[in-house]
Amino acid sequence: MDLPQTPSFRLDGRRALVTGASRGIGLGAACALAQAGAEVVLAARSSSELSAVCDALKAAGFNASFMQLDVSEVATAKARIEEAGPFDILVNNAGINRPGPMSAMTEEDYDTVMDLNVRAAYFVAQSVLNGMIKAGKGGSIINTSSQMGHVGGIDRTVYCASKFALEGMTRALAIEVGEHNIRVNTVCPTFIATPFTAATLADPERVAWIESKIKLGRIGEIEDVMGAYVFLASDAASLITGTSLLIDGGWTAG
Ligand SMILES: NC(=O)c1ccc[n+]([C@@H]2O[C@H](COP(=O)([O-])OP(=O)(O)OC[C@H]3O[C@@H](n4cnc5c(N)ncnc54)[C@H](OP(=O)(O)O)[C@@H]3O)[C@@H](O)[C@H]2O)c1
Repeated sequence: MDLPQTPSFRLDGRRALVTGASRGIGLGAACALAQAGAEVVLAARSSSELSAVCDALKAAGFNASFMQLDVSEVATAKARIEEAGPFDILVNNAGINRPGPMSAMTEEDYDTVMDLNVRAAYFVAQSVLNGMIKAGKGGSIINTSSQMGHVGGIDRTVYCASKFALEGMTRALAIEVGEHNIRVNTVCPTFIATPFTAATLADPERVAWIESKIKLGRIGEIEDVMGAYVFLASDAASLITGTSLLIDGGWTAG
């Protein structure tokens, strides 16, 4: 009897672009893809952090290079990404939060969050997509959204608006590019210990509240999100598109 074989979780021979790859979740995603066999191109603004990560990946025997890039400078980013492509995998991850009550939010706060989390993410996806379609091999676009793209959060009116927007973009794009065998999904973490959450996680009261909402009772580590990127990038997820993979320890379960 021929038993069904699990499709491969390996990514050998594939090229991946990871934005926001110099630290935090993007660093985790880049390492995960490299460890699964992909060639990774790391993008962020700080070249010193990027080159340190890149050197460490190469020293461990992985295939990595980096691109110093501000993805919110859309025209430049688009040209550089198109030149560096084609890519088989995009982790569209660079993001920011300006927490606070709506009454305290300024236009500058609003624009900064929306410019990076929505506008830049949109045009990074577009830049990679053009190359993917031309190459004709299909591909996987993974947008780092958040559990805050599925529920509201305290002090997060702008951030939630941006991540709900990313969820909408993901679904609409999945409809558009399915015929090219390009899959588009989001990874939606709960609170993960990174520089991004350092201030929130320094407040014991806030930590107690977060841990009370996470059914598994603990804040996430970078390692908790790494497998999701490999899975969504791989053939093991070949019929998965237009959806979200929540890594929220059960926060949104109720
Ligand atoms: N940590 C969490 O709890 C959590 C939970 C849910 C979702 N997320 C999402 O996960 C993503 C990453 O979060 P994180 O916690 O890893 O954040 P982080 O530790 O602050 O890292 C952000 C990364 O993005 C890069 N970046 C920022 N602005 C950029 C720009 N304009 N152009 C290019 N790169 C830029 C940063 O490098 P440079 O500063 O050098 O550019 C850095 O590599 C975000 O989209 C965030 O919304 C985080």
